[in-house]
Amino acid sequence: MKELIFATNNRHKIQEVSALLEGKVAVLSLADAGLSGEIPETADTLEGNALQKAMWVWTRTGRPCFADDTGLEVDALGGAPGVYSARYAGEHCSFDDNVRKLLDALDGQTNRRADFRTVICLIEEGSPLYFEGRVDGQILTQPFGEGGFGYDPVFMPDRFAVSFAEMPLEVKNRISHRGRAVAKLVDYITK
Ligand code: IMP
Repeated sequence: MKELIFATNNRHKIQEVSALLEGKVAVLSLADAGLSGEIPETADTLEGNALQKAMWVWTRTGRPCFADDTGLEVDALGGAPGVYSARYAGEHCSFDDNVRKLLDALDGQTNRRADFRTVICLIEEGSPLYFEGRVDGQILTQPFGEGGFGYDPVFMPDRFAVSFAEMPLEVKNRISHRGRAVAKLVDYITK
């Protein structure tokens, strides 16, 4: 089976993506590949950050690898926090800090439309390829559910009556931004 190193330190992402690639691709963590440390993500686009993270692994290992970068794009905030979703509430903020800041920013706002967008960058032989996934929905007025991570408790995807954090992982994976981007990656790898 083909092996790909996933350039992330986020255990939630490893869990989601490993479930999606099970039986198709062997996903190696940074530790599996003998790597450790913070991966920089200082670009101002999702594509730029995904490339930067994948390149960080590629330059150290020369082995096939991929990275994803995700942004929550809120209509009423002009697309913010977008590429800055991880540090929306400050440099060393928690997921809860970000959720609180988002709910404050949307206090009293009736337009709660938002989307999650993920860009995956795959590097197999030195040149990058990109795969994108997106899910539309709305920001709830308070957090619901214990599952998932990040903004999941306040994001309700269209055609569902629960937040991402209230769904089993298989359901989130079937419809999510990351799930859709990974499906395109799988199509490419297995074709
Ligand atoms: P990253 O730069 O791709 O790690 O993602 C930026 C931030 O977006 C993360 O720190 C999370 O707060 C948020 N995020 C990414 N993916 C998800 C998701 O699937 N659900 C909820 N929040 C997410």
